[in-house]
Amino acid sequence: MRLIRAKDYNDVSRKAANIIAAQIYLKPDCVLGLATGSSPVGTYKELIAKYEAGDLDFSKVRTVNLDEYVGINHKNPLSYHAFMQEHLFSKVNLRPENVHLPSGNGAADAEAYDKAIHDAGGIDIQLLGIGRNGHIGFNEPADDFTYGTHVVTLTADTIEANARFFKSADEVPRQAVSMGIGNIMAAKCVVLVATGENKAKAVRDTIRGPITPRVPASVLQLHPCCVILTDREAGKLMLEE
Ligand code: GLP
Repeated sequence: MRLIRAKDYNDVSRKAANIIAAQIYLKPDCVLGLATGSSPVGTYKELIAKYEAGDLDFSKVRTVNLDEYVGINHKNPLSYHAFMQEHLFSKVNLRPENVHLPSGNGAADAEAYDKAIHDAGGIDIQLLGIGRNGHIGFNEPADDFTYGTHVVTLTADTIEANARFFKSADEVPRQAVSMGIGNIMAAKCVVLVATGENKAKAVRDTIRGPITPRVPASVLQLHPCCVILTDREAGKLMLEE
């Protein structure tokens, strides 16, 4: 696991985009694992800028997203389908047939999603954000690590954190479909982006804490190719040690 403390959000975004761009240069038909939330938006902006400058070609790239809320219409702007359209898919030359997200229909599609990842040859590089409680994708703190794609009941902390996108916490869906920890660990490389002071504890627990499903991201300590990119604030507790 490598920690890179960047200056600020833009610096984190530029560095993450550079790593992903390198992956696309090395393997034009690579499988990118993608994430939602405010953390990766800057990375997507940087990738779009590289595409617009003629430096990146997404025509052969395949993508698989981490998660989707259960029971939300894909046209709803708060769905992760709509989020990805807005922040990346509609702005680069990704082919619609090459982008994949969990349908959000519940358990029925989970196995099909695992198969889709497997049939694509596995994930070459997985981009991750991190929840304040150390969740990745929607793998919430739990007694066990999950393996494959599954339905998750969101914790009160995550509902509260994600309420900022909805009119109120009451409107945040209570369930999601998420890739499992096994799917994420099977990615050849992982890039986790974390910014802001409210992520500092999760970052420290991820890197320095015990490996435990209570801090799902801590399992990344075992990943052979994992880069954690933080700004000064999210990385600040790593300075004390
Ligand atoms: C959601 C997503 C995660 C994301 C997390 C943090 O719960 N399912 O993939 O990492 O939020 O989001 P943000 O980057 O907005 O802080």
